Amino acid sequence: MKRTGFATRLGAIAATVGSAVGLGNIWRFPYQAGENGGGAYILVYLLCVLLLGVPIMMSEFVIGRSTHKSMKGAIEQLSPGSPFKFFAYVGVLGALLICGYYSVVCGWVIEYLWSSVSGTLLNHTPEQYSEIFTTFVGTPQRCVMWTLLFLVLNFLVLNRGIEKGVERISNVMMPVLFVLLIVFCVNSLMLPDSDDGLEFLFEVDFDDLGWKGVVDAMGQAFMSLSLGVTCLITYSSYFKDDSNLMKDAVTISMLDSLVAILAGIVIFPAVFSFGLEPNAGPKLIFEILPTIFQQLPGGTIWAVLFFVLLFFASITSTISLSEIPITFMIDEYNISRIKAIIITAVLMTIVAVLSALSFSTLSDVKLLDRNIFDFLDFVGPNFFMLLGGLVTAIYVGWFLNKDIIHNQLTNGGAHRSRFVQPYIIFSLRYIAPVAIILIFLYYVGII
Ligand code: PFF
Repeated sequence: MKRTGFATRLGAIAATVGSAVGLGNIWRFPYQAGENGGGAYILVYLLCVLLLGVPIMMSEFVIGRSTHKSMKGAIEQLSPGSPFKFFAYVGVLGALLICGYYSVVCGWVIEYLWSSVSGTLLNHTPEQYSEIFTTFVGTPQRCVMWTLLFLVLNFLVLNRGIEKGVERISNVMMPVLFVLLIVFCVNSLMLPDSDDGLEFLFEVDFDDLGWKGVVDAMGQAFMSLSLGVTCLITYSSYFKDDSNLMKDAVTISMLDSLVAILAGIVIFPAVFSFGLEPNAGPKLIFEILPTIFQQLPGGTIWAVLFFVLLFFASITSTISLSEIPITFMIDEYNISRIKAIIITAVLMTIVAVLSALSFSTLSDVKLLDRNIFDFLDFVGPNFFMLLGGLVTAIYVGWFLNKDIIHNQLTNGGAHRSRFVQPYIIFSLRYIAPVAIILIFLYYVGII
């Protein structure tokens, strides 16, 4: 199969930022921060980005860009006979499960976009917004319908090929989303009692956190940066050979974290100003955002604009998730792109429909005490992504030829990396494996 590359360096980075920035930043980060007490969670999250996220992102880039292949083929080329290649299956499975439940939230975004456009979203009390959300997710037909619509759109874009589809959307959408978030931040900061929200976000109190908070923060860092499911290996396999991997990884991680923090600054001052609870769970932004929009002059227009952009931010993420099994099947089994798309679409649709029904028809089905949606929202980031990250760190830190790492990170010595490279290797060898293994020991009850 012939591979197309991204047209420009900016395009490749924009598409990778498009993968990273999504519902993870704008929906999941605020609700997780809200559930885990705010400041301390955010501090641990940022530490995870810096100490584990950036090095693991660079490792995925090294593997993908040096071979121009997805995970399994890449490992076969870099380390023939190495068993690490089998973790490609973990990535593919993780991507299918994550994209399945994630598409349900994308469906929620379409529902909110639809009710913004039709003018029924705004002019309710905060309590009513909570009820509106609960009634909506409890209506199986509606949830499934929007989820399916989203998946159809997702796979239509994928069918047009990575370059045309992803690059074009990402280039336009990201800067606009950024500006919009800043406008909403300013608005939230002007609300009465907004200080309480900022205090919640930035005052660090470890008593509020606990081990659960640490696990959540680490899973969230991986989720937000799209790590551990071989997504960035797949994407960087399309990078050009002269792209600066170190600089790109740092830029992408910083932009991604900035978007998450901005989302927090939009949400929490409003939560406290309207006297709501920060620990509302997955429905948090869907009850707060309408309350924020209706404060603004021309509220409906802001709502439409925001949900359109959130839709684009989500679809650039699901495209990158879907690309994992698709590229895997094309590279591994040499089947046509359309066949790979159809197989992926069928599998993801099954997971998505089961997740969409978690709040209604299937609400009694529990796994680890959670409904299907919450279960996938837990094991996706906190198990699959962390496991993938652990394997990537160990492989690149301990087993991959150091010359390959050096050549990839510095483009054959063209970029200096006196401090960065030793730091990356140290993190991959020690910090990341120890941190992730501690988390797994916590799961099995040893700590
Ligand atoms: N990083 C995306 C987000 O924050 O919404 C989600 C995601 C995309 C996770 C791609 C994993 C992935 F491979």
